[in-house]
Amino acid sequence: MVEPDVKGDAKVPEKRRAKELKELKEGCKLRVNRFRSERTEWTPAEILSIRDCGDRWTEKKQFYIHYVDFNKRLDEWVDQDRLDLSSVEFPAQPKDSKKASNNHSHQNGHTHPPARKSQKRKASRVEEISDENVDEEKRPRSTGSMVQNPHDDITTRIKNFEWLELGRYRLQPWYFSPYPQQLCKLGKIYLCEYCLCFMKCLTSLKNHLRKCRMRCPPGNEIYRDKDPKEKDKGICIFELDGRKHKTYAQNLCLLAKCFLDHKTLYYDTDPFLFYVMCEYDMYGAHIVGYFSKEKESAEDYNVACILTLPSYQRRGFGRLLIEFSYELSKIEKKQGTPEKPLSDLGLLSYRSYWTQTIMEILVELMKEEEEERSKISINEICERTRIHWKDVQSTLLHHKMIDWYRGSYVLAIDKKEVDTYHKNAQKAQLRINPKNIQWTPKDWTKRLGRN
Ligand code: ACO
Ligand code: ZN
Repeated sequence: MVEPDVKGDAKVPEKRRAKELKELKEGCKLRVNRFRSERTEWTPAEILSIRDCGDRWTEKKQFYIHYVDFNKRLDEWVDQDRLDLSSVEFPAQPKDSKKASNNHSHQNGHTHPPARKSQKRKASRVEEISDENVDEEKRPRSTGSMVQNPHDDITTRIKNFEWLELGRYRLQPWYFSPYPQQLCKLGKIYLCEYCLCFMKCLTSLKNHLRKCRMRCPPGNEIYRDKDPKEKDKGICIFELDGRKHKTYAQNLCLLAKCFLDHKTLYYDTDPFLFYVMCEYDMYGAHIVGYFSKEKESAEDYNVACILTLPSYQRRGFGRLLIEFSYELSKIEKKQGTPEKPLSDLGLLSYRSYWTQTIMEILVELMKEEEEERSKISINEICERTRIHWKDVQSTLLHHKMIDWYRGSYVLAIDKKEVDTYHKNAQKAQLRINPKNIQWTPKDWTKRLGRN
């Protein structure tokens, strides 16, 4: 991050500043202060949209900013005083459209150069991740439940409301979600935490809660694990069919879209099963997160989309959902893999799960002293964990654990990896207790064939 010599555009005289503000348009790149507070961090950014927010007397604009090289969830509306006007780069105009765009530009500062829409933005990512992701994990989706929208429509790139209320929590969306426009315009959306139906105000929600009979997701409870410390509390998981429980499934998808970038499954929920994880107490089952799964997957997908609601993130629930998805794969006796591409956080969580699960087997194996026992094949690891061989391979390669030795591949584990494994294993971790799963897989080939 480069600090400009002066604070923002303090050197820019007032008149010139006003003119420069008018000239700003979508596609302009400049530095923006990422923080509203006193803290200053000038960060390269791109203007995606501009709106007027002044009144009759004062002209004021706000700018919708995407921070270059940061994930889209950090995109936001900023006031003009957070822009560094001395750093503006105007978008290049394609040669053939130069003439046409000359006629369009600089009319009101809201210009939409014709080439803008087809301009591909650089893939965004968060700071924590290096660029070494396996290609497949980042390729845009063309099939399955998270198809990347080929028409990168400007309206769906902008967050369309301020927050939603869900049970005890108020959540700020990370991405666009297609809730009805009348609701989005109001800026706030109120959800019933049990049926997930959405309302425009608190009064409507209160009225709804008086009538709503649901206190948990629909479908079958297939897992329950009591909290050893607190009576009447614990974790439960419900399985529901996207065809039978369409309204709930659609409401869930709308909620999930607020936190999933490339998801476009909103209405066709029929081909999916949904596994909703809740924390239960004496009042009901409160949604924590979920994953969806195709009833039939030709690509061995055992998860389509996975989400932990932001209010529950970084507490081990994502790992728990992932572990549960593999426990189902174990019962099905099938290898499974999550649908690609993974999001930045998805990749972090999966890689952490794969590493820990594979290391658990390898460390156990290393304890055995007999030479014979310290052999294991990738196939055997897959059989035991039901992690797809591609993911086992990519995890081992990521940690540089595969070596070529005397004409064959061997697993070579660094002491550092073993230490990290032990350190992580000591953390108090939420774990699935397989004995508590009450589930038998259905043969969807027959069922779907009959429909
Ligand atoms: N920064 C760094 N590491 C992280 C982060 C983060 N923000 N979030 C998760 N991780 C990693 C860590 O290694 C973590 O282990 P640690 O806490 O011991 O360090 C591990 O992931 C698992 O963390 P959990 O607490 O179990 O995961 P969480 O409940 O936060 O859920 C999830 C992870 C589901 C990816 C969540 O971040 C989320 O819902 N994100 C938005 C939706 C999304 O991106 N889903 C995945 C899309 S890909 C797909 O659907 C197939
Ligand atoms: Zn309800």
